[in-house]
Amino acid sequence: EPEIITSKEKMRKWSRAMRAKGKTIGLVPTMGYLHKGHLSLINEARQHADLIVVSIYVNPGQFSTSEDLSTYPSDFYGDLQKLMSVSGGVDVVFNPYDLYDYGSGRDREGAEKRDSVKEVSCLEERGGGHETWIRVEKLEKGLCGKSRPLFFRGVATVVSKLFNIVDPDVAIFGKKDYQQWRIIRRMVRDLDFAVQVIGSEIVREDDGLAMSSRNVYLSPEERQKALSINRSLSRAKHAAEEGQINCKKLQDSVILAIQEAGGKVDYAEIVDQETLEAVEEIKAPVVICVAACFGKARLIDNIEIPAY
Ligand code: PAJ
Repeated sequence: EPEIITSKEKMRKWSRAMRAKGKTIGLVPTMGYLHKGHLSLINEARQHADLIVVSIYVNPGQFSTSEDLSTYPSDFYGDLQKLMSVSGGVDVVFNPYDLYDYGSGRDREGAEKRDSVKEVSCLEERGGGHETWIRVEKLEKGLCGKSRPLFFRGVATVVSKLFNIVDPDVAIFGKKDYQQWRIIRRMVRDLDFAVQVIGSEIVREDDGLAMSSRNVYLSPEERQKALSINRSLSRAKHAAEEGQINCKKLQDSVILAIQEAGGKVDYAEIVDQETLEAVEEIKAPVVICVAACFGKARLIDNIEIPAY
């Protein structure tokens, strides 16, 4: 059974003690409501570390509306059951109540000073004493960053807090959130975090839908339609294999297929795997990244295409 740790101090103590014993630590950061995608990250972590910490924390710093934050699905006891079923097990579940509670230094003034223009996350909206943010300036701008300009600031900041608290040797991220994975890698390189960041392959349902905690928002009918995302991506990859290197053509085919299925495309872009900059022709390895809404659910998915 995993040990459940809810305070930063205890988490730090545990890590220090384990490191003193010469153990290596693998961290899998999550926001809970776990599915097989998350569990695959734990299996990956097992390959690289002696001990596994899974963090479960719904981070207010990366949500822009309180509604989205408060309706984010959660099922802590269900999560624990799933974690206990993982072969090899999980050593610690780190489930802090509030990672931004700094005790006495807390000032609640911020909340009153905000004007009506929403340029803040839920964290700032509720006030409090946090004002330091990590920004990965170029990588955070495109793709999901266009419609959610503060999202990756929140992700990079909470992940660096987790790295400082847990002090892991390796951390595992899913390539499902491709831009997130690249941003964390860059942050670790640029700020010399002593942690190895590993990207893990996307886990899909049998019908190809990428697993996501947000899939619960889909009606059965919407779920069926959402398959157009993965199908159009696979078809584009196939076309690229057959010699289609014109990105505009590939991109249009993906957008059209998703729209025809009734999805609202936020973006479908073909970008360089490293820089995430849009490319016109496939010459180096690229990834096609998509975000589309079906009903209430905003889904993201991607497919990597090596240069042929
Ligand atoms: P969350 O959405 O819970 O995802 C936690 C981790 O699981 C991420 O690294 C994500 O890429 C991975 N993941 C989700 N679905 C996956 C799938 N179908 N296949 C493979 N991996 C998958 O991402 C976050 O939480 C947060 O932004 C976090 C990094 C925890 C920071 O708050």
